[in-house]
Parts: sequence; structure tokens; C-alpha cells
Amino acid sequence: MTVDDPGGRPGRDTAAARPRDRPRSRASQSDLERYAGLFAERTRNMRSSAMRDLMALTQRPEVISLAGGLPDTTLFPAEELAKHLSVVAAEAGARALQYAPTEGLSEVKRAIREVLRAEGDDADPEDVLVTTGGQQVIDLVCKTLVNPGDVVVAEAPTYPGAVPAFAAYEADVVQIAMDADGLRVDALEERLDALGAEGRSPKFIYTIPNFQNPAGVTLSLPRRRRLVEVARERELLILEDNPYGLLRFEGAPLPTLRSLDGGEFVISLGTFSKILSPGLRLGWAVAPRPVLSKMNIGKAASDLNSSSLTQLFVATFFRDGDWRGYVAKQCALYRARRDVMLASLEEHFPPGATWTRPEGGLFLWVTLPDGLDTTDLLAKALSRNVAFVPGRAAYLDGRGGASLRLNFSGVGEDDIREGVRRIGAVVHEQIELLDRLTGRRPAAPAPAEALSPAPDPTLADVLELRRRAPDPRRPQRGSSSP
Ligand SMILES: Cc1ncc(COP(=O)(O)O)c(C=O)c1O
Repeated sequence: MTVDDPGGRPGRDTAAARPRDRPRSRASQSDLERYAGLFAERTRNMRSSAMRDLMALTQRPEVISLAGGLPDTTLFPAEELAKHLSVVAAEAGARALQYAPTEGLSEVKRAIREVLRAEGDDADPEDVLVTTGGQQVIDLVCKTLVNPGDVVVAEAPTYPGAVPAFAAYEADVVQIAMDADGLRVDALEERLDALGAEGRSPKFIYTIPNFQNPAGVTLSLPRRRRLVEVARERELLILEDNPYGLLRFEGAPLPTLRSLDGGEFVISLGTFSKILSPGLRLGWAVAPRPVLSKMNIGKAASDLNSSSLTQLFVATFFRDGDWRGYVAKQCALYRARRDVMLASLEEHFPPGATWTRPEGGLFLWVTLPDGLDTTDLLAKALSRNVAFVPGRAAYLDGRGGASLRLNFSGVGEDDIREGVRRIGAVVHEQIELLDRLTGRRPAAPAPAEALSPAPDPTLADVLELRRRAPDPRRPQRGSSSP
């Protein structure tokens, strides 16, 4: 293909050539074929994040989205934002507009240290890499450690946003069951033994110990201790993803895995996204130095450095503002919203549905009675202007069909009540339909729309969720529902 090949010029996706209802960013099959010969092997495994796809669908103001992972940024006073930004402009305008060292500015590392200390951890600034959100840490850890086919251990379910990163680096992800106390470390050990018998060892164990996304559960102290011991005994790295540790509404704080380990086998991921603002796109990694220096090189290749402007904003806010007060305000708000969501679930969800009761964070995880599929339910829910994340988004192998993730931080109490009511109504309808079809309920003519729900073209187009059944050769101990 030459630059001026009239038959297939890249970038010529004119409105006339594009189906009218397809968003500009979505490539059609014929577009893909046109470029297919150029794609690297790894793109075959790449998949988009169901969460981000959903975000595009739920931008419409009439949709109540319980799908996002959004902190409530309206809580941050506009005057405070303006004040700190003008301090940055006055004190360090030229630096804010300049490149910065890849590892990050020393001022923001001081702020990171304060956050670490608030959780009973600490780090030498030399061991910290400032990143473009926590998401970049997941990407850099994979970039640094994972060859195609390498094993990565994750929780079942896992953070839906990590799924595309694991897929892009062609990791063989082994998901280990959780329960109310978080990752089942006993199941992990069994699985590590089984992998060891095949001569395989994971490159790292990915865990979200506090108010897990999506499950909302927290790793208990005995399990934290045992997990760190397991890593040390077997010389395995842990990636401790901890965006939510400070968003605790009740119960006693627990030590981080990194503080229990001393930093030899734990890479920790932190972020300002949930305690301050995701729009800043600022996070960090603390890692053993040899690993950190490779991650630093990987980061320089990706984006040279994270925004100097937002680094200086955060540093100024931490110096002059009340970041702890802001976190406390968020906790109070989210706690009230969580309680509303729990009460609404009691009111509107059927017997047989179960859900977690998080002590902090942004999410809870609902598991529906057998036979229901939340990917199908989402299509119906969206037609009633309400959204959630279907459970399959949190698995790499097609499991999770009976579950869904609900977010309670991003919308107000009235919308939580109404959103849960609408989802509950859809669930009840689906159960009735299922009962009729299986003869558990006297046959009454089912509404035609319910028997063969019209496929939602937009949803089908954007949600790439696998429907493959779990691989029977892979033993999965325990249930997937935490
Ligand atoms: C568990 C977890 N890790 C990482 C991230 C990425 O966050 P960010 O890139 O905004 O710091 C998120 C965001 O929701 C998350 O929930």
C-alpha cells in the first residue's frame, strides 16, 4: 500500500464511508482487514476494556451509571483548584510547562511519602517511580516481566482494567478464588504447587488487598502475613495494587503487604486518582531497585515523564491544602452512599441474590441466582437507562456470568436508589422468564420482547466479553464468588 493508494488509504474514514451509527473510534471489519497485514502478533490478543467501552455508552445524561469507578470529583471545591493552580503558576510556572525527569519530581515524591506513611508504609524516594496513573504501573510491570505465555496469578474476579494489559502482553492468567477474607491463599499455594509440577512459576501475583475492585472484599491480616511468607519462601513477586486503602469507612486499617515484606518481594502500586482526582492521571510504583530501573526505562519509552503540571499541582495541594480532610470527606460521603446501595439491594433484589458488604472503597459485587447472565441483563438494563459492569469483564476465561459490579461513589443517593430499583426489576423479569421456560412457574404467555430480546446493536458492537466456558483442564477450587 502506498501513501496515495486510492483504494485503501489509512485515515480516510470519511463520514460517507462510515455507517452512520458507528462511533468514529470503532473500526469496521473491512477497515480492520485493510490494515490487518500491518498488525503485530500481540494485537491478536488485545482486547478492549469492557469498563471503558461502557463508559462511552453511559455518557448520556439520562443513564444512571453504576458501572464506572468514578470518585465524586464535585466534592473538590472549584476555588481550591483555582487557588493551587495559581500558586503553581506563580511559583513554578516554567517548570510546570517543562519536561520532568522520568522518575518524577522530588516535590511529588514527598506527597507520595505522606500517603505511604498514612498507611504505615514508607519508602526511600529513590525507590519510587511517579507514573501516569496506577494503570501505567500495571502496564510497566507487565512490560518489564512478562513474556508471551508467562503465568500471572490474579484474583477471581480481578480488576477489569488489568485484563486488557494482561492480554496485550499475552500473559497466561491464572485466577484464584476469593472469599469474604480476600484471596484464598490456601488455594493459591495449591495452584503454585500444581504449576511447579509443570515446571512453571508465575512472574508475579497480582492482588488488590483493600476493598478489592470489583469484589469489595479485603484481605485479612493472617492471609496478608501468609501471602508475604509464600512470596518469600518461593521467591515470587507480588504486585500490590492499592488505590483504595485510605478510603476506609469502618473497621481497623490493615498493614500493606509491602510493609509486611519490607519491599523485597512486593511492588506496590499507588495512585492519586481515588484519594484526590483521576483527571490528574498521577500514580506511583514502589519497587525493588533492579525492577524499578527497568520500569523507568519502559516508562521513558512510553511517555518520557508524567505531566509536570499535575505533579506540581499535587505537591502544592499536599503542602498548602488539607488532603487528609479531603479523604475524610470522601469517606463520609461514600459510606452514606454504600449504605443506601445496601438498603436498596435488600429492597429490590430477589432472594437468592447475594452481595458483598465492603468496609471501604467504591464497589460491591452481586451474585445472582443460577441461570441468569449479567451480560444479557446489561442489554436490558441499558434500554432502561441504567448500567453496571457485567461480571465477565473481571475474568479472562469467560466466567463471572452470574455476577455484576456496582459502583456507589459516583452518583447521588437518589440515583443509587433508582438505579438499583431498575436493575432489580430487570433481574425479576429475567427470573420469571427463566422459571416459565424451565417449568418452575405455570406457563403464561411471556412478552415477546422478553423471550427474544432484540439484540442491542450498540452493546453487541462495543462489549467484547468472552463467552467461552472455563477450561476443564484447569482445576478451579472454590467458587468464583467472593
Ligand atoms: C484496582 C485498580 N488499579 C488501578 C486502577 C487505575 O487507576 P488510575 O490509573 O486512575 O490510577 C484502578 C482504577 O479504577 C483500580 O481500581
